[in-house]
Amino acid sequence: MKAILKTISGFMLVVAIAAGYMMSAGIYNIGATDKHWLITEKLIEWMRNNSIAARANVLEVPTMEETEYLATGATHYDAMCTICHLAPGQELTELAQGLYPQAPVFHQRKLPAGTDAIETQTKAYFWVIKNGIKMTAMPAWGLTHDDETIWAMALFVQKLENMSADQYQKLISKHSNSDGHEHKHDHAHSHQKNGYDSHHQNKDID
Ligand code: HEC
Repeated sequence: MKAILKTISGFMLVVAIAAGYMMSAGIYNIGATDKHWLITEKLIEWMRNNSIAARANVLEVPTMEETEYLATGATHYDAMCTICHLAPGQELTELAQGLYPQAPVFHQRKLPAGTDAIETQTKAYFWVIKNGIKMTAMPAWGLTHDDETIWAMALFVQKLENMSADQYQKLISKHSNSDGHEHKHDHAHSHQKNGYDSHHQNKDID
């Protein structure tokens, strides 16, 4: 028994020294063009999903009218997310091409089967949109947006499944003037309808 323990701790010491050497000598390639090994990728994904689930599962999805979250979600999504996540009918952007890990393309994604699974996904999406994901390009939008807006985006991105470019454009043009956002500069009649965004009011645009 003692001999086995000795062998294991000896082995761990060698691994720790080798890891320390690799890190200090710059052997590890931090570049986004150098992909992880499959096993590393799987491990990160597993840890990521467990981390998100542990924090997201305690949340409750608020009741929101579909018209309300489509309006808010579409406008914000179009203004802030498409450069990485793309939109129906949009060509791959140079930024999205360069990302590692890659940003998911929501309109090409399938919803999980069953309402429970969709609800779990909505909570996870809300949490990710609010908090971002470390060491990826996914920003934390909760620093600048309230929960209501973030729930609307979490619900909206799931409505992107199979959405055509036409349907998307209709949503954007229908709502771009009714739910203004500071990142879009074409929102003359904004803010009155959804007062949540009042700190973004920009009266001089009107
Ligand atoms: C600068 C690029 C970038 C922008 C802008 C961006 N994202 Fe992301 N997003 C990412 C990346 C990269 C990932 C994948 C991270 C990973 O694999 O862990 C991601 C992941 C996500 C996820 C999690 C998906 C999943 O499968 O769990 C959601 C939801 C999401 N983004 C929504 C949004 C929304 C909504 C916006 C706009 C408000 C947005 N993102 C803006 C890069 C971006």
